Amino acid sequence: MPLKTLTIDLPGRAYDILIERGLLQQAGRLVREAVRGERIAVVTDYHVEALYGSILKDALEGAGFLVSITAILPGEESKTVSTLEKLYDAFMDFGLTRSDAVLALGGGVVGDLAGFAAATILRGVDFVQVPTTLLAQVDSSVGGKVAVDLKAGKNLAGAFYQPRLVLIDPGCLQTLSGRIFADGMAEVIKYGAILDKALLERLSAQEPASLLRDGLEQVIYRCCDLKRQVVEEDERDNRRRMLLNFGHTLGHAYEAAYQYRSYIHGEAVAAGMCKMADLQQKHGLLAKEESLSLRSLIARYGLPTRIPCSMEAYEAAIGLDKKGRGQEISLVLLRRLGEAYLQEMPRRQLFDWLREEE
Ligand code: GLY
Repeated sequence: MPLKTLTIDLPGRAYDILIERGLLQQAGRLVREAVRGERIAVVTDYHVEALYGSILKDALEGAGFLVSITAILPGEESKTVSTLEKLYDAFMDFGLTRSDAVLALGGGVVGDLAGFAAATILRGVDFVQVPTTLLAQVDSSVGGKVAVDLKAGKNLAGAFYQPRLVLIDPGCLQTLSGRIFADGMAEVIKYGAILDKALLERLSAQEPASLLRDGLEQVIYRCCDLKRQVVEEDERDNRRRMLLNFGHTLGHAYEAAYQYRSYIHGEAVAAGMCKMADLQQKHGLLAKEESLSLRSLIARYGLPTRIPCSMEAYEAAIGLDKKGRGQEISLVLLRRLGEAYLQEMPRRQLFDWLREEE
């Protein structure tokens, strides 16, 4: 067994998250223990395929699987219904049956898309996540949220569909650009801000440049363990899981305000966390030191602490936020660093807060 193993204990759908450098080479044996079939349809993007496609294919074939690889164009633009249809066609051409499996090799886009394809093809086949970005390793590959984007917004057609196995090889992160690594660090900092002050202290004490060499496996393990606890308690995102959206309401507004071109998800979430902490502090709901300490950690990991945004853009995005219910919005606020809570608030009040800032 890999050094670091977590089990997500959902009734009838328990699965392991395995974390260790070099797991990609062992994927054949590990996937064999988790799925039933003979065929594995790997979904990846062109960039990840060039780096890890043949390592994974050799490993899976070595364990006796028949393997097909379908690569999509990298980027959020691929997370569409039309790419989904191409995947369905590729799976059928490959002869996938209900006892076979789909495996996602890549970042969040690949994982969400392949997961939704796995959930729906033939009314659902086994699914394995092999995340290759930090963001996917600490967040999107765990917990079963799968989706595609619609014209009306991101992730609007989706499902809760848990994988059979998540294989995390932190060695894959060596090839990430600094910007994509920082993208994932935003979600790591988010876990600390909402649930684990000790994680924030650890990140503050660490030299960011050394994290890839030193201690990253432990940090990934900690984030996955925090997510495990939240998902076990609230798989369907009705209450506690919503805490994972800290920084996301404003973050989604920043992404949309710049047509998803200027800021990637983690950058927008980082600025969203800073803004929310700042608004709370101005309204007496968070101590100034806490807000400043979060801001300085975010800056330290190379993430933006502020993204300019017009009131029109806030209103357009927050009016559409799918987590909002009617006139009220569920906001994730910080009681202090390491402890978050949900607060229902009239949208109007949030817009008033934001307007005061302009
Ligand atoms: N990424 C947030 C969640 O899985 O709920």
